Amino acid sequence: MHLQNASKVTKSKIKQTEMRKNILVTGASSGFGLLIAKELHRQGYNVIGTSRNPEKIKSEVPFKVITLDLDSVESINTLPERLFREIGQLDILINNAGFLVTGIAEEIPIELGRQQFETNFWGTIKVTNALLPYFRKQKFGKIITVGSITGLVSFPNTSYYAASKHALEGYFKALRYELAEFSIRVAMIEPGSFKTNIMDNSSKTTNRIDDYNTLRDKSEKYAQFIVEQGEDPVMVAAKVLKVVETDKPKFRNLVGKRLPMLVTLQHFAYGTLEKAVLKQLNKA
Ligand SMILES: NC(=O)c1ccc[n+]([C@@H]2O[C@H](COP(=O)([O-])OP(=O)(O)OC[C@H]3O[C@@H](n4cnc5c(N)ncnc54)[C@H](OP(=O)(O)O)[C@@H]3O)[C@@H](O)[C@H]2O)c1
Repeated sequence: MHLQNASKVTKSKIKQTEMRKNILVTGASSGFGLLIAKELHRQGYNVIGTSRNPEKIKSEVPFKVITLDLDSVESINTLPERLFREIGQLDILINNAGFLVTGIAEEIPIELGRQQFETNFWGTIKVTNALLPYFRKQKFGKIITVGSITGLVSFPNTSYYAASKHALEGYFKALRYELAEFSIRVAMIEPGSFKTNIMDNSSKTTNRIDDYNTLRDKSEKYAQFIVEQGEDPVMVAAKVLKVVETDKPKFRNLVGKRLPMLVTLQHFAYGTLEKAVLKQLNKA
């Protein structure tokens, strides 16, 4: 009897290990990525997080952290080899790493705008491409990308950020069709405004065109207001967990207050949406 029980425990342990999915979370040192990685680890997944400086957080987190710099071709090219030293197969990729460039569009030097795309768009695409051959070969997998409501609706002072997130939406929408026959699922997470370190880590220009002084002041005050009103980022980790645990997740996954209304207005009553955004801005 004793032995039988022991064998049951061993079998269930083996089963648990077999079922333990490997998940890569980019940008797991802060904000959403950190919370997503912690939550998935808590739920029993084998999480590998990434950071440009893993040493910064390695000793403080319960999951493994490897180096990844979205702006470095070498870092991305060596990612598969470094990753598969840690795990036998990858079940899920969570593209979360990214940053924010703010400012009036005309004031932002093209180089800074290009940097926004290099990290948020090209970096994400390059990481996805580096791992796609492995997903295709194993004929299963899931690619979950953290976009933004700003990838569906644009607001003043966020032109390049919005453009980089809109680009991700368009790209992954196409990829979803292309990967379906390999049982690789593609989904986006589109958060509203959440309290993370995104503003502290953002880049802005010191260029000033006086004609924009009033709009810039209002936009900056409004951005401050939005940050203060930001929701609890654990909501985003909870949504990601849901998508991780859904066999065939839907493409769009909004997280945050009033977002479905914003998207509906964008499609069916654009003028009303613009008036509402300008009204909020003028209140700031
Ligand atoms: N907070 C919001 O309200 C909000 C709303 C919608 C969407 N988002 C999106 O959510 C994602 C996470 O942002 P967050 O709010 O959690 O910001 P955060 O706290 O600033 O975290 C950003 C993460 O991305 C990583 N990262 C930044 N640039 C990188 C690069 N060049 N290469 C590799 N990793 C890089 C950082 O890692 P290291 O510095 O350690 O390398 C960090 O872990 C971003 O894609 C952002 O656009 C945020």
